[in-house]
Amino acid sequence: MDRFVIVLAAGQGTRMKSKLYKVLHRVCGKAMVNHVVSQAEKLQPEKIITIVGFGADAVKEELGLKTEYVLQEQQLGTGHAVLQTEKLLAGKKGTTVVLSGDAPLLTSATLEALFADHQENHRSATILTATAPNPSGYGRIIRDELGNVLKIVEQKDATAEEAAVTEINTGTYCFDNEWLFKALSEVRTDNAQGEYYLTDVVEILQAQGEIVGAYKMSNFDESMGVNDRVALAAATKVMQRRINEEHMRNGVTFYDPERTYVEADVKIGADTVIEGGVSLRGTTTIGADCVITAGSDLRDAIIDDQVIVKSSNIEESHVLAGSDIGPYAHLRPASTVGPNVHIGNFVEVKKATIHQGTKVGHLTYVGDATLGENINVGCGTVFVNYDGKNKHHTNVGDNVFIGCNANLVAPLEIAKNSFIAAGSTITNDVPEDALAIARAHQENKLAYAKKLPYHKD
Ligand code: UD1
Ligand code: CA
Repeated sequence: MDRFVIVLAAGQGTRMKSKLYKVLHRVCGKAMVNHVVSQAEKLQPEKIITIVGFGADAVKEELGLKTEYVLQEQQLGTGHAVLQTEKLLAGKKGTTVVLSGDAPLLTSATLEALFADHQENHRSATILTATAPNPSGYGRIIRDELGNVLKIVEQKDATAEEAAVTEINTGTYCFDNEWLFKALSEVRTDNAQGEYYLTDVVEILQAQGEIVGAYKMSNFDESMGVNDRVALAAATKVMQRRINEEHMRNGVTFYDPERTYVEADVKIGADTVIEGGVSLRGTTTIGADCVITAGSDLRDAIIDDQVIVKSSNIEESHVLAGSDIGPYAHLRPASTVGPNVHIGNFVEVKKATIHQGTKVGHLTYVGDATLGENINVGCGTVFVNYDGKNKHHTNVGDNVFIGCNANLVAPLEIAKNSFIAAGSTITNDVPEDALAIARAHQENKLAYAKKLPYHKD
């Protein structure tokens, strides 16, 4: 039996009070609608069609080639939204799943269970329902005394008795595709919101003698629809727990998973320890046997095995095996560090490559530079890379010793095995094996300190 998926994503989402269209709001780093489409892909359907309207271009950019698109020019309701796929789907034999772009927690496992239930019971429509602790805002499932689903009533159309029902419509359905389009043509707008409700299809199918039922999922959390920022935070919490638990099952230790923010596409190797308050974002990949201590924030970073990151920020950079970073270091984009490199406290690195065994221990800025192996960079060194207009590059050869508080004014070539004296401002290239000193000579005025007002005898 062919499967088709329709994802509703044309609404503006006024309750979000946002410039950003609702389905593009991110849950653990990934747009809600992208979570939905990723789960839909696992069902291996013939087609996934996303209904776009508000922010159509932005939604298309987010989802790319993962789906086909149909434009709903005016947002006249969920029934009207589904009807826009008529040209692509009407007349096809198969089962159509309708998903809401604002339900990011739903899993493909639940959708498979919904499919199975729909098929086994030979229904024309099966609604995915759940019992909500607070059903406010959801459509309510109205059943007869035998438990058959009679209709779905929206909050705004519900009587007090109907509003008291806690079984809710998750906004996810399985339909016999041909019956779906037959019923949709009969949906009208005689309701409190003056919209074409997809939910009215239930009553229409009933009236035609078709079998309509509900599959009730046990886990309400998974069905959560996000209409405002409160629900967005709640969904993020659930998704975060799901992501972190998966990493824990794969051998990662978390000291405080409730307070560790790991985005959906992050990868972490076994026996790595992640302390509390860490944020791992974007496409960050962490190897095995690493330690990432409290407060570290990594975005699009690649961290190889056995790396220690102490309370540091790393963006779009690669740290090779055996290196240690921080505390309080900042690796900015396009940096490559290691293997076995030491980056100490209050060191900032930008667009620099630092090779094996080099140590940059304290209070240093390394920008636009290539450092060879086994270099020692003294405390307070500044790679002076910017002349106010352009950035310039510095190369430092293997085994160079850079004394404390040196200024290396780029562009510069500092050849291997050379030595830069502390406090030097280097403006000329330094040859191999040379000692470079560039600072004023010291003069000692004997007994002069005694004449100074604060001198203590
Ligand atoms: C809908 C259901 C409600 C259910 C709830 C679950 C209807 C009438 N109501 O209500 O029974 O409990 O979802 O979360 O279906 N959309 C369009 N085009 C439109 C209108 C909406 O694409 O013209 C999209 C929205 O972008 C959203 C989805 O459809 O992704 C659901 O719309 P929304 O307005 O959030 O419906 P709810 O009021 O939550
Ligand atoms: Ca909704």
